[in-house]
Amino acid sequence: MNDVKKSIVDTMDGIDGELCEFLPYIFQDVLVIGCCPELILDLFESKKIGYTNKSDKLKILDLGCGKGTVSVRIAEKYGHEIYGIDGLNGFIQDAINYSSSLGVSELCNFKVADIRTEVDLLMDYDVAILCAVEVFGDMYNTLKRISPCVKSGGYIIIGSVYIEDHTDFTHPEIQLRSEVLSQLEESPVKIIDEILFDNIKDVQDENFKFMRKRIEELKKKHPHKADIFDSYILSQEEICDVYENHTKLVVWLLQKE
Ligand SMILES: C[S@@+](CC[C@H](N)C(=O)[O-])C[C@H]1O[C@@H](n2cnc3c(N)ncnc32)[C@H](O)[C@@H]1O
Repeated sequence: MNDVKKSIVDTMDGIDGELCEFLPYIFQDVLVIGCCPELILDLFESKKIGYTNKSDKLKILDLGCGKGTVSVRIAEKYGHEIYGIDGLNGFIQDAINYSSSLGVSELCNFKVADIRTEVDLLMDYDVAILCAVEVFGDMYNTLKRISPCVKSGGYIIIGSVYIEDHTDFTHPEIQLRSEVLSQLEESPVKIIDEILFDNIKDVQDENFKFMRKRIEELKKKHPHKADIFDSYILSQEEICDVYENHTKLVVWLLQKE
């Protein structure tokens, strides 16, 4: 297993582990760093998650919760209890501040930890969320690791990306849709819903504006690290092209058997 800094930088589409300590600074003006919270809120709203009477208090686990963008909104709107874990202390501090700014800090618990080891200690959650956090390998291995955290009949929400079948594009870390589907079939889960996210360009254009400004500030402050910051912008541009033009961003709602 690589070290947690490398894992964090990988999920933030960077290359150099040294970037890790600068990520909270670079993303300080950006709230949506992974999944669009509205997509996940819609799953609760549409009652596809079985037990969502307003009075049902669900226990929700948000693995790699980042700044709490997704789960704090769930706490605010539905009053569910959140346990969010992320490896980056700066993001967890942002999540704590975000939960208090929305008046739901008593519903939200956050911890700085490596989810790759932490998952083995967790069980009995009604819902587990893993959005834009590809740290457990392919879909089969991801479900093998996270489904023990969820009650039988509980739900798993995975925000991910796939490549449509019958295209020429390949990427070493992104599966074909048919591969994902066959691994879902092999896993003890039922697919309840699949939602595609088409609006990525707008979100990314907005994020880029802020990130470029912060990166320029960092380059002035740490000129000897300018190449690390420049290469981050380049790798962000490359992955944005992959997301916009060659892949589908998807949220899977799965129910554990
Ligand atoms: C793209 S962000 C997604 C954040 C959040 N899930 C969302 O959708 O807004 C990926 C997150 O995974 C976290 N992460 C990556 N590897 C991790 C690990 N091994 N343990 C804990 N957190 C990790 C990063 O720190 C980052 O906050």
